[in-house]
Amino acid sequence: MIKTAPSLEQAFDAGDFRLTAHRIVDLLAGHLAASDPGARRKVLPFEDPEAMLASWADRFGPGPRADAAEMIAEVLSRSHDLLHPRFVGHQCTTALPLAALAGFAGQFLNNGSAIYEMGPVNVAMERHLARWMSGLAGWGPEADGVFTSGGSIGNLTALLAARQVASERDVWRDGVACEPPLAVLASEACHYSVKRAAAIMGLGEAAVVPVAVDPGFHMTREGLDGALGAARAAGRRPFVLVANSCSTATGSYDDLESAAEFAAEHGLWLHVDGAHGAGALLSPKYRYLLRGLEKADSFIWDAHKNLLMPALITAVLFRDGNHSYEAFSQKASYLFERDSREEWFNFAHRTLECTKTMMGLRLFVSLAAYGTDFFGEYVTRAWDLARDFAALIRAADDFELAVAPEANIVCFRHLRPGTADPDALQRRIRRTLLERGEFYIVQTELGGKLWLRCTLINPRTALADLEALLREIRAVA
Ligand SMILES: Cc1ncc(COP(=O)(O)O)c(C=O)c1O
Repeated sequence: MIKTAPSLEQAFDAGDFRLTAHRIVDLLAGHLAASDPGARRKVLPFEDPEAMLASWADRFGPGPRADAAEMIAEVLSRSHDLLHPRFVGHQCTTALPLAALAGFAGQFLNNGSAIYEMGPVNVAMERHLARWMSGLAGWGPEADGVFTSGGSIGNLTALLAARQVASERDVWRDGVACEPPLAVLASEACHYSVKRAAAIMGLGEAAVVPVAVDPGFHMTREGLDGALGAARAAGRRPFVLVANSCSTATGSYDDLESAAEFAAEHGLWLHVDGAHGAGALLSPKYRYLLRGLEKADSFIWDAHKNLLMPALITAVLFRDGNHSYEAFSQKASYLFERDSREEWFNFAHRTLECTKTMMGLRLFVSLAAYGTDFFGEYVTRAWDLARDFAALIRAADDFELAVAPEANIVCFRHLRPGTADPDALQRRIRRTLLERGEFYIVQTELGGKLWLRCTLINPRTALADLEALLREIRAVA
């Protein structure tokens, strides 16, 4: 039902808002119910990109052309269903419905959180969350950090601070020309955002010297020594070591005790990329995977990966909270009253963004309403499920497991005797699964071979769904 355009005043009418909001929430609740494990809707209704693009042409013009609730119904029916138990693809989490509602309230309030007076409640919440997360890392009251829009910006922020601290000159003011040029030592298995950060920082991708990993994708002592030697041989001065907790492709956790020891020996800043795997800090069973984190200088944690939060919400945390002021040492007199480190409440001193969404609100409300144990149990279950799935794969003689999973990421491939090109087979299997829409999985390259990859990030996924996935793969192969 398309109405005539409202006046500006009518668009803010509380009665109209209530009616529209109820219609939209009813649609969302229906969508949630239809994603129930028993109700077998497709995970994704695959459409060709060009057809998708064409279908959204001419949908708006000078006057109204659509009813908002009807359009949202269409969006729901044509989008990926991350609530579906068979969504086991990328590391985007199923959004906790309560967190989505808190996000809705945050969008409604739209208190940008650059400085305290723009978003006082959210600023206070984010401060508590940063301290709570730092405490889980094993850090003391001097630790501090901020929230930012995603792990890529999180890694950039931490590396900017590390460089500013490591440099004899004020790089922020004087630019990057350092003699000798700097190097970043990073696990071969690190996320591409680390190289991207180095390039953005003006160091160039070549400044990232890879640390060799073992067959389980963990950095090795030989790899660390080798990378240090290679950096020095290239005339560079390493200033930071980036470790994974855990890696993107296989979910491998580096040994942080050894990484910290190496960093201390060579005067390096230790940055831990916990974007995906830091959620294990909440699980009494799996917390051990991050042993040694307390010795790191900085780490990042994406709540939109393994804390069930709608994107984006990344914590960038520093063992010495003063270092959180080093990343963006810039004065903006219209925002800040003075350039003071006591201004913890004016986050824009310490973030790439000026205006930010109220990202802390979603996590804070969810933690307050459900408690921290709820999230710990979620992580334990997902990490357990990965191990159970790996056991299924090991037990099947027509599947091969890439590595024993440490987090909730499982990489495997289907084996068919006589297949001339096993990589092409995996590629075809995945493409067919995508087009059928019953499961969503992804693929990755490891050791020169192509593997199918699942992230068990959805709390509604059961082992039975994964058994069904192996059956489906056999069928499409
Ligand atoms: C280990 C790791 N670090 C960083 C990122 C980047 O995070 P974002 O997608 O939030 O920018 C990812 C994303 O997959 C990741 O897995």
